[in-house]
Amino acid sequence: MVKIALTGGDGMVGSRIIELLQDKIQFIPILQKHMDITDKNKVASVLNSIDFDIFLHLAAFTNVDAAENNKKTANGVNVLGTQNIFEIVTHKKKKMIYISTGFVFDGNNPPYSEKSIPRPISIYGETKYQGEQLLNNEAMIIRFDYPYRNEFKLKKDFVRGIITALTEGKKLSMVTDSLITPTFVDDIAFGLKYLIDHYSPEVFHLVGQNSVSPFEAGTSIAKIAKLDSSLISGISYEQYFKGRAKRPQFAHIISIKNKFIKMKSFEEGLQILYHN
Ligand SMILES: NC(=O)c1ccc[n+]([C@@H]2O[C@H](COP(=O)([O-])OP(=O)(O)OC[C@H]3O[C@@H](n4cnc5c(N)ncnc54)[C@H](OP(=O)(O)O)[C@@H]3O)[C@@H](O)[C@H]2O)c1
Repeated sequence: MVKIALTGGDGMVGSRIIELLQDKIQFIPILQKHMDITDKNKVASVLNSIDFDIFLHLAAFTNVDAAENNKKTANGVNVLGTQNIFEIVTHKKKKMIYISTGFVFDGNNPPYSEKSIPRPISIYGETKYQGEQLLNNEAMIIRFDYPYRNEFKLKKDFVRGIITALTEGKKLSMVTDSLITPTFVDDIAFGLKYLIDHYSPEVFHLVGQNSVSPFEAGTSIAKIAKLDSSLISGISYEQYFKGRAKRPQFAHIISIKNKFIKMKSFEEGLQILYHN
């Protein structure tokens, strides 16, 4: 069985990957309380004390808005933390997979494939892209966009956030002139399994089959969860993100390399979550 050490194994995406693949992969989760990735000496001592075939690096400073005012911390975790891990993994002559994001793109020139040139427009996107660059084409990079999954108590994904708000009868303003590419986390896990078995140090996108506006996403969610879609009103991208971290406006992310797993459309993913 392949042995995979990983950071972020208790996060929203990592915990589901472990749940779905633990019969096929031996996971060695390394939690923040045992190894803060910004602590170079700690990273060296922990990684040198364990044996693994591949290091899967999921941990990140993921709060996009908070990153704008905490540039040093975001940089410490997403850039220096990645550097600390990469150095030891390379020294041990092991493989590395770095999880990245569609937020490395500017959103002005869709669609974005593995061949598109990143141009981040937020601190979060910038630090994740610097994390990609320091790997120097010697690690696999997997990007996805707007992951959603079955219920995860510790952190709400965007689908869960909308459901909670609508269930509480809250009014929501959702952007009409923008695109996101929602990605079902189970598809990420099974795509990742294929990529682990066919490892190559390149960039891959594991993204949902279609892109939708946040407003369309909200109304689809309300419909499937039988909630009141009249609580959702439209708002422009400019208005919504005024004073906040910029998100890529047209994050229509595609893959020209994924011939190995059929990623679900947003509607298909929601059907599985709400009718199974
Ligand atoms: N969520 C999204 O919308 C999205 C979209 C595209 C790509 N991604 C990428 O997918 C990956 C996983 O995202 P996620 O949403 O699952 O993340 P998450 O739920 O926010 O979890 C982040 C993980 O990173 C760990 N972490 C943070 N700082 C750390 C540090 N200094 N040392 C060690 N561990 C640290 C956290 O540990 P604690 O639990 O102890 O805090 C947690 O396990 C990230 O690389 C992210 O950039 C996410």
